[in-house]
Amino acid sequence: MVNSTQRLDVHLADDARAEALVADVRAGLAAQPRSLPPKWFYDATGSELFEQITRLPEYYPTRTEKALLADCAPEIASITGARTIVELGSGSSEKTRLLLDALDQAGTLATYVAQDVSPAALASAMAELEKDYPRLAVHGVVSDFSAGGFRDGLRFVPEYPDRMMVFLGGTIGTLDPIERAAFLAAMRESLHPGEHVLIGAGLILDEATMVAAYDDDAGVTAEFNRNVLAVMNRELGADFPVEEFEHVAVWDASAQWIEMRLRARSAIAVRIPGAGLDVDLAAGEEIRTEVSAKFDLLSLSAEMASQGLPVAHAWQDPDSRFALLLARVE
Ligand code: SAH
Ligand code: AVI
Repeated sequence: MVNSTQRLDVHLADDARAEALVADVRAGLAAQPRSLPPKWFYDATGSELFEQITRLPEYYPTRTEKALLADCAPEIASITGARTIVELGSGSSEKTRLLLDALDQAGTLATYVAQDVSPAALASAMAELEKDYPRLAVHGVVSDFSAGGFRDGLRFVPEYPDRMMVFLGGTIGTLDPIERAAFLAAMRESLHPGEHVLIGAGLILDEATMVAAYDDDAGVTAEFNRNVLAVMNRELGADFPVEEFEHVAVWDASAQWIEMRLRARSAIAVRIPGAGLDVDLAAGEEIRTEVSAKFDLLSLSAEMASQGLPVAHAWQDPDSRFALLLARVE
């Protein structure tokens, strides 16, 4: 329920979403190697599965970033003096509360803009915020930040005073280097000089720790991964036999990312009527469903600086698993 201090804008109507899904499926599944963009994981079930992932013993990123934010949010508040937080891919907005609280304590907080492609995740986050922050102006936006090569995707960013744009969770890692450059440039374009950008990024660790985070013993990440096929079945009338796909998570040392894939356990012929596409998968053939890049702090700082986002402060946890990078827009 959206009340008077809350506003919800939907920039991704059902027909536009359906059109985008068809385009992504035609481009990704007809190509070799086959792939699907990760944004399609996040229907209501996928968003809930992601929340379960954040609580798994193997999935260190969320709890590490949360502890880091708990430590440095007051410093971020005093450095930025931000009055507005604009968060991309905000999900449950749970960790963001640490920033909201710090800005509130500093006496500057006025507005929180939460943007996500998942209407279910956003609705639930807004309902929880309404309970705990009844006087906070919350502006929700359902949209795809990657639309039109990120330029269209970030056009929604509303004008409010003294904004800090935040992108947490390591979601920056789901973009490849070319997409990252376009994304950072679009972030820069959507803000004014003197405003801020805060990015949370996973750092490169030993392979076993990173792979385990994407291949947990309880099989929740496998279920999250396979959920994208259930989305195709429901949205496009496809007939993926979901359980006939094996979850695969591997570290690609040259690209410096974890790659999640779905591997056909046997030869599978899939009809996807909604996309006008039939796909014949050989036994063992894989569909890439996500990359999750891990970073070297200095290289990511350099990438940000080269797009007009010079990093003024960076924090990392004692085990160097995760970093927060704060840039002041040039
Ligand atoms: N920021 C939260 C959630 C991370 S999960 C956290 O740190 O826990 C990634 C989030 O980004 C999901 O909520 C997903 O729905 C959203 N997302 C993924 N691709 C997106 C896109 N293209 N546009 C907008 N949101 C997207
Ligand atoms: C959204 N993103 C940052 C998560 C990650 O760690 O790359 C998504 C995820 N995929 C598998 N587990 C979690």
